[in-house]
Parts: sequence; structure tokens; C-alpha cells
Amino acid sequence: MAKPFLKWAGGKTALLPQLLDAAPERIGTYYEPFLGGGALFFALQAEGRFARAVLSDSNRELINAYTQVRDNVDGLVRALQVHQRKYRAADDRAEYYYTIRGKRLTCDLGGAANLIFLNKTCYNGLYRVNSKGRFNVPHGRYKNPTICDEDNLRAVSEALKGVELSVADFAAAPAPAAEGDFVYFDPPYVPVSETSYFTSYTAKDFGMADQERLAAAAARLVQRGSSVVLSNSGHPNVAAIYQGECFDLTHVQARRNINSNSTERGVVREYLITSD
Ligand SMILES: C[S@@+](CC[C@H](N)C(=O)[O-])C[C@H]1O[C@@H](n2cnc3c(N)ncnc32)[C@H](O)[C@@H]1O
Repeated sequence: MAKPFLKWAGGKTALLPQLLDAAPERIGTYYEPFLGGGALFFALQAEGRFARAVLSDSNRELINAYTQVRDNVDGLVRALQVHQRKYRAADDRAEYYYTIRGKRLTCDLGGAANLIFLNKTCYNGLYRVNSKGRFNVPHGRYKNPTICDEDNLRAVSEALKGVELSVADFAAAPAPAAEGDFVYFDPPYVPVSETSYFTSYTAKDFGMADQERLAAAAARLVQRGSSVVLSNSGHPNVAAIYQGECFDLTHVQARRNINSNSTERGVVREYLITSD
């Protein structure tokens, strides 16, 4: 069974039971416009709940990694096996890591292998870029990380066959959704405090104007008959944006492990927002 092949900040594995409950039993087209690690896509796919899937994210290096897994899994497995061999044999693993990190992440097979390698060996397994869009996470402390999980990569490649992947803004990709379709939005969260969420998945930050644009896009989809579910933090601004006729808000408990401030790791209250 295919499972996420990248560890991603905001990964939804812990909230899957609630998300699966909130999703329709039968879905025409499934849209996931903030793809990240794609936890809900893999869970719905395993249950055979959609006929078609459209996955997108504004991070082009991330979408390139999915595209290479889908279209070029043999080459990718070979490239990752080379990384794994060299990294494990290196006298100075940090030096090997920083050499790879110093390269620009290209949108091709090598770039995808480098992104997966960095994700498996970086600190806390997260993706973060600086204002120039360069990956800037320090080396991690894993003893013997699995850099090439061949079985899962092959399962993911199969799961992605026929799936549409694109680099797109969240509002654009699901715009054609209609009755019978389902859209899950998992945006960068409204921060509950200055340090609580790291929001730099891409060089451009996701601010309140984007949050409001998202709520408007979600409401349009509901008016056209699509089912919509959104996740966000427990911040009062979230409640304010989604109050109205279109949505129900419920609190869910989530365990958050990826957080730059260790005192804020642990169980947090988040909102699950569903179209009724
Ligand atoms: C919270 S993560 C998604 C986590 C994912 N659901 C999982 O289970 O791993 C948010 C994602 O939104 C993407 N993103 C940020 N701004 C965006 C935008 N304007 N349009 C589309 N995607 C965006 C980021 O690149 C990041 O991958």
C-alpha cells in the first residue's frame, strides 16, 4: 500500500481518521491543491474512494518529485541507491549532505533524487526555504536513515498512474470542480503565535490576504455543489473567516512534531472546516 514518500511540515497522518470521516464515500474527482506529503490522497486512494485525482502545489520542486516518482521510478530508485551508498560510506556525512544542499534543486530526475535525499537526512525531515527559495535546513541526526524505500516508491508510482499533477496556485487547480467532486484544502496555517508555525514552504509567505482568498474560493466551490473540507489552526481569525452559511467548524486534536520551537510541540487544537 502506497504511503507518503516525503515527510512534510503539516503532514496530516495523525488527523486521517477524522479527515476520512469527513470525506464523501464516493468521489468523482478528488482535488488536493496544497499537496505537501499528500497524506489524505494516499489514504483515499487505498480505499478506492475517487475515480480521478488532481494534485497540485505551488512548490515546483515538490511537484517535480511526484512527477519523477510517477514517470521515472526506475531511474529515481537507482539515483537514490547511489545517494544511500555514498552517504552511509562517507567519513563525514554532514559534508556530503551540505554538498547536495548547495546545489540548486532542478526540476528533473536528479533534482527529485536530491530533494528526497535531503528530506530523509535533514534535521527533523522538513522542507523549508529562505527568501531566495533555497533549501536551508541543517543536517539531521538520524543514525541510518532509509534514503531509498524502493517498495514504497514503486507503490507510490503505481498509485500516481493517471493522476494529474501541476504547479498551481490553490484557487486555480480545483476551479473546474462540480457536484460529486471533493476538494481538501490544507493551507499553511494561520499562526497561533509568532513562533508556532514555520510558514516558509515556498519563498512567498502565506498571509491573511491569502487566507481570505482561500475562504472565498472554498465558498465558491461549495456554491457550485462540490464537497469541501479545510484544515487550519485553532486561531480565532479562522473562525471569523469561515463563519456563515457554507461551513461547519469543529475542533480536532492534533499532535504536531515538526515545529522549530520545541516547547510548542505536542497536542494542539485545530479547526476542521466542512461544507454542510
Ligand atoms: C500544510 S502543507 C500541506 C500538508 C499536506 N496536506 C500533508 O499531508 O503533508 C501546505 C502546502 O501548501 C503549499 N502552498 C503554499 N502556498 C500555496 C499557494 N498559494 N498555492 C498552492 N500551494 C501553496 C506549500 O508548498 C505546502 O506544500
